[in-house]
Amino acid sequence: MQDKDTWSGRFSEPVAELVKRYTASVDFDRKLALFDIRGSLAHAQMLAHCGIIAAQDLSDIQRGLGQIEGEVIAGTFEWSLDLEDVHLNIEKRLTTLVGDAGKRLHTGRSRNDQVATDVRLYLRNAIDDLVHLIKALQSALLDLAEQHTQTIMPGFTHLQVAQPISFAHHLMAYFEMLKRDAERLHDARHRVNRLPLGAAALAGTSYPINRELVAELLGFEAVCENSLDAVSDRDFAIEFTACAALIMTHLSRFSEELILWMSPRVGFIDIADRFCTGSSIMPQKKNPDVPELVRGKTGRVNGHLVALLTLMKGQPLAYNKDNQEDKEPLFDTVETLTMTLRIYADMIGGIKVKPDAMRTAALQGYATATDLADYLVKKGVPFRDAHEAVALAVKFAEQKGCDLADIALAELQQFSAHIADDVYQVLSLEGSLASRNHIGGTAPNQVAAAITRARIYLAS
Ligand code: ARG
Repeated sequence: MQDKDTWSGRFSEPVAELVKRYTASVDFDRKLALFDIRGSLAHAQMLAHCGIIAAQDLSDIQRGLGQIEGEVIAGTFEWSLDLEDVHLNIEKRLTTLVGDAGKRLHTGRSRNDQVATDVRLYLRNAIDDLVHLIKALQSALLDLAEQHTQTIMPGFTHLQVAQPISFAHHLMAYFEMLKRDAERLHDARHRVNRLPLGAAALAGTSYPINRELVAELLGFEAVCENSLDAVSDRDFAIEFTACAALIMTHLSRFSEELILWMSPRVGFIDIADRFCTGSSIMPQKKNPDVPELVRGKTGRVNGHLVALLTLMKGQPLAYNKDNQEDKEPLFDTVETLTMTLRIYADMIGGIKVKPDAMRTAALQGYATATDLADYLVKKGVPFRDAHEAVALAVKFAEQKGCDLADIALAELQQFSAHIADDVYQVLSLEGSLASRNHIGGTAPNQVAAAITRARIYLAS
């Protein structure tokens, strides 16, 4: 094949130079090299076990692939564009190293089931790394939350001050999102972890192979049960990318908040200098580049999800070369997410909280108005009436330019005769927090308990 520069004797002229570059994937799929070698070793072991190749062939293949693995790790392996992809590059080198045994490796196999296997092995490995990184980020969140169960900030809806919450409670919302993100990856992993090998080109193979043995050697949970499906679908990669897009989306929302909180107009937090940059023209600037880039890179990962869905949607069964285009979006998703999670955990560890600014903001937006309404309801006033009475009290406070807690008792009583001097307990920020004392509420003891549960979850 390679000697004549054509694919095989069937072809009368070599592939055009431009076409060669257009169709080659080795520049990016060489990332799969070590997984390709692992897959080949398992395949060869099965071929020998089933008597399809000789024991001597197996040991030659093992020796050759061992050497190739060393070359790949050392960076001395010579990749050739002429050999199109990672699979042909490795096979050619193997044949150069061990002769005929190398040529026997591809018995009962096709690049179609080979590449599907490699991508699954790559992705399984990536998922395991990513789950660890999510947990590290969650642990950084807990370290910060632990110090702030009593730090009060305004909680927002519509970006308007709504009700007081603790900073820890706010952080724990992201802990929960990340917990579901890790669960989703864990779940997707089961569908990634199935063996395509044995499907060969599309219909299976006539050799007496043992697919279960290969699955076991490679740590797959099961074999793909239909050969056409095994070589052609990339739903597992799409599903992973959807999980990744959700993780990025969560971190993008968090980033948006960090950017807002760090703005001098808000001033709730400061992000460590090592995550920020200055301006080339405005000397006073300190810009939150990292969260801004996380927000930006979320668009990129969402784009990869759409790319993969679109790649798949028009493909008839079984394998089509379109699928070669699955790799760059997938690899970039893994790499972008890996870097983002890594940098995020470190950035959370470097956040400086400014409790005074948070408190001042919580005091400014009538954040305890709901507490006053609830107070009236507990004294027998129907909720809708209580709501209206408090609305009038807020209007009054607004006109006076003060907080609800600053209105004298006699003045408050104009809005409802049920108001007594115990009202000031519920109008305080601390009272408001403490009263939301149920699982999922912002009361400091509840958030502390949530943090304890979260620690146990992370340790499990
Ligand atoms: N480089 C190819 C890919 O990534 C490998 C499979 C090629 N199979 C084929 N029939 N041309 O999908």
